[in-house]
Amino acid sequence: MKKISVFIIALAIAVTNLKADEGMWLPYLLGNKTYADMVKHGLKLTKEQLYNINKPSIKDAIVLFGNGCTGEIVSKEGLLFTNHHCGYSDIAAVSTPENNHLKNGFWAKSKSDEIACPGLSVQFLIKVEDVTSKVQEQLKTVAPSDLATKLPSILNELSKKASENSIYEVRISSFFKGNQFLQFTYLRYKDVRLVGTPPESIGKFGGDTDNWEWPRHTGDFSIFRVYMGKDGKPAEYLADNIPYSPNYFLPVSIKGFKDGDYSMIFGYPASTNRYETTYGIKLKLDIENPSVVNLRDTRLKLMHAEMVKDPKVKLQLAGRYAQIANYWKFFDGESKQLIQHNTLEQKQTIENDFQHWAKGKKEYENIFSDLKTAYDNWRPYAKHRIYIFEGILGSPLMAFAVQLNQLIQMQAAGKLNDKTIAGFKAAYTKFIKAENIASDKNTLAAMLKAFYKDIDATQQPKDFYSAFKPLGSLDSDVPYQKMSETIFSNSMLLDESKFNTFLNNPDTIALKKDIAFDVASTFFDNYNNNYNKYYNNFIAETYRLTNLYLKGVLERESNKENLYPDANQTMRVSYGNVKSYQPRDGVFYNQICTSKGLLEKYKPGDLEFDMPEKLIDLIKAKDFGAYVDKASNDLVVTFITNNDITGGNSGSPVLNASGELIGLAFDGNYEALGHKIAIDKNLNRTICLDVRYLLFIVDKLGGAKNLINELSLK
Ligand code: ARG
Repeated sequence: MKKISVFIIALAIAVTNLKADEGMWLPYLLGNKTYADMVKHGLKLTKEQLYNINKPSIKDAIVLFGNGCTGEIVSKEGLLFTNHHCGYSDIAAVSTPENNHLKNGFWAKSKSDEIACPGLSVQFLIKVEDVTSKVQEQLKTVAPSDLATKLPSILNELSKKASENSIYEVRISSFFKGNQFLQFTYLRYKDVRLVGTPPESIGKFGGDTDNWEWPRHTGDFSIFRVYMGKDGKPAEYLADNIPYSPNYFLPVSIKGFKDGDYSMIFGYPASTNRYETTYGIKLKLDIENPSVVNLRDTRLKLMHAEMVKDPKVKLQLAGRYAQIANYWKFFDGESKQLIQHNTLEQKQTIENDFQHWAKGKKEYENIFSDLKTAYDNWRPYAKHRIYIFEGILGSPLMAFAVQLNQLIQMQAAGKLNDKTIAGFKAAYTKFIKAENIASDKNTLAAMLKAFYKDIDATQQPKDFYSAFKPLGSLDSDVPYQKMSETIFSNSMLLDESKFNTFLNNPDTIALKKDIAFDVASTFFDNYNNNYNKYYNNFIAETYRLTNLYLKGVLERESNKENLYPDANQTMRVSYGNVKSYQPRDGVFYNQICTSKGLLEKYKPGDLEFDMPEKLIDLIKAKDFGAYVDKASNDLVVTFITNNDITGGNSGSPVLNASGELIGLAFDGNYEALGHKIAIDKNLNRTICLDVRYLLFIVDKLGGAKNLINELSLK
C-alpha cells in the first residue's frame, strides 16, 4: 500500500493491546514474548537473522524506496523488487509516446540497458538508538502548548547535528505520541535504475475498480537496481558507477505455500492512528473524509477527461492521477467501514475504561473533556482548511503560486541569493513540466465554485465572489469558468520565458500583480490570517492531550511488550499467516487468485481490464514453466495474509517461515479499510503479489532470463 500523501495525516497516536496478527513491531526492539509468538505462528529463524547490526540479517535487504514505499534487495548485484505503483511515476517519467515503457513494459537484457531515474533514491537502515532522554532534556523548557509546533524543528536540529560530517542521514522519530524518541541512521543511494516493468495492463490490471479489493489480479511489481560509486560508497548517478553490493539479499521461493502458512512482512508503514479518539473519528466521518472525497472526485474526472484524449497527457498526469485516486477510494471506504464496524462504539468503550482507571489521577482526569473542547473549537473551520488544501490548491497552478509567497518573504528578509533562486527555478521547472493547462483550468473553475457553494459565506475571502457576479449567476458554472479562463490567459506563471526572466531578477511588485498569484494569495491569506490560528490551537491542544493519554496508557500497562507504536515510516515487521476469509455472511474468499480469474476479468480494449495478447496465449497454453502452483495446477497471481500493514508497506517483501521471498505486499482489502484506526482481525487482509507470477512475467513474457539467473531460487 502506498503512503498516504495528504496533509490530513491526522493525529498519529499509538499503541494497542497485543493480539496475534496485529502489530507493526520494531525489529530492533523485538521483545521475547513477541518473538515467541512469531515462532508459535510458524517462524523458523532466530531473532538475530531478522535484525542484527553486526552481522548480515534480513533488515539489510529492506529499503525505504523513493518517498514512501518499500523495496527489497534480491541479488548480490543490488537488484531490487518493489510494486509497479511504487515505480509508476518514475516509469512514466522515463517514457515518451514513442518509447512508452509505461504502456508496453520494459526489460533490460543487460546492465547497459538499465535506465537512470533522476530524483529516485533508496535508503538502507544502518542502526537505531533510543534518544528519549536526550530529546526530553531539550523539551523541558518548552511550554506544553508550544510542543506541537516546536517539536519538529527540535528533532530536525538534533538529527542534523547527529549526521554532521558523515555520509549518513539521521532522523529522529516520535513514538507513542511523543513519549519515546528513537534515532534512525540511514544510508541513501541516489543512483537507482529501472531494470524491468510489465506493461501497465499487467502492472495496474484492474485499475481503480479493483484497487483496495480482493479478489485481485494485479501484477503489481517493477524492478530496479541500486548502484554505488567505484569506492563502494553512495554516489550521484554516474554511467560507470557499479552495482550495489548488499550485506544480505533475499532468496526467492518457488515452492509455494498453503492456507495457514507463516507469513512475515518487513517494511516502512507510514502512518496509523490506532489510538484515535471518538472525537477524531467523528470529525473524520462528518467533515474530513466526505470533503476530501468530494473534491477529489471532481478533480479526478477533470484530469481523466484530458488523459484519455492524448497519450502525452496521459503520461504527464498518470502519476499524479494515481496518487489522488488511491486515497480518494481509501477515504470513501474508510468511512464506510468505520460505520459498518461500529468503531465509534468500540473506541468509546476503550475511553470509558481509561477514564475509569484515571479516576483520582489528577494528571489524566480531564483528558477527554479537554479534547472535546479542542474539537468543538476547531470544527467550524475544518472544512475550510480542506477546501484550501484539497480544493483551491488542488489546482497545480494555485499550489505553485502559493509557494511564491516564500520568495516575497525571502526578498524582504534579504535572503534571496543565487542558491535560493536556483531552488525556485527548480520548483518552477517541475511545475511547468507537470502542468496540463486544460485540466487545471477546469479544475480551478470547479474548485472556485465548490468553495463558494460549500464554505460558510462568513468565512469566504471578502468581496472576492461579489466581483464575479457580473460574469454570470454564481449558481451556474459560467462565472467560474470565465474567471479561470482569465487567470490562465493572463498569468506570467504560465509563460516560461517570461517567468524565467522574472526569476533572474525577481520584482515582487510585478509578482503581486500577477492574477494567478493574486487569486491564490486571496484564498491562502484569508485562511492564514483568520483561521489558521484555530488550527494551531487545535493541533497544540490535541498533541498535548494525546501525549498525556498515551503516557497514561503506557503507565497503565504492566507489560510494555504488549504495546506496539503507531506506524511512522520507520522499519517494522509484522507476522501472521496466509489466510482465506469470509467478507460477509455466506461468502467465502479463497486465499489465492489464479490466471483463471485473469481470463474471467479480461475485457479487450478496456482501460482497466485489457491484457497483452501474449499473456492470454501463455495462460491458455498453460505455459507456466517452473512457476506453476502444484496444488492448484494453475499460475497463482496473488494471495492474501492477515498481516498488519498499511500505506508505505507497498513493495514490502512477504517472507515464509524460512525468510524466503514468496510475494510482494501491495494493498489492503476493502472490508478492512478502517485499519488505520482499528484492526478487525477477522476481516483485515494484506493483498500480495505471488513472486511466482512476477518470475513468470519476467521470464515468459519479458524474456529476461538474465534477471532470473541473478536470483537465488529455492
Ligand atoms: N491501493 C494501493 C496502495 O495504497 C495502490 C494501488 C495503486 N493502484 C491504483 N489503481 N491506483 O498501495
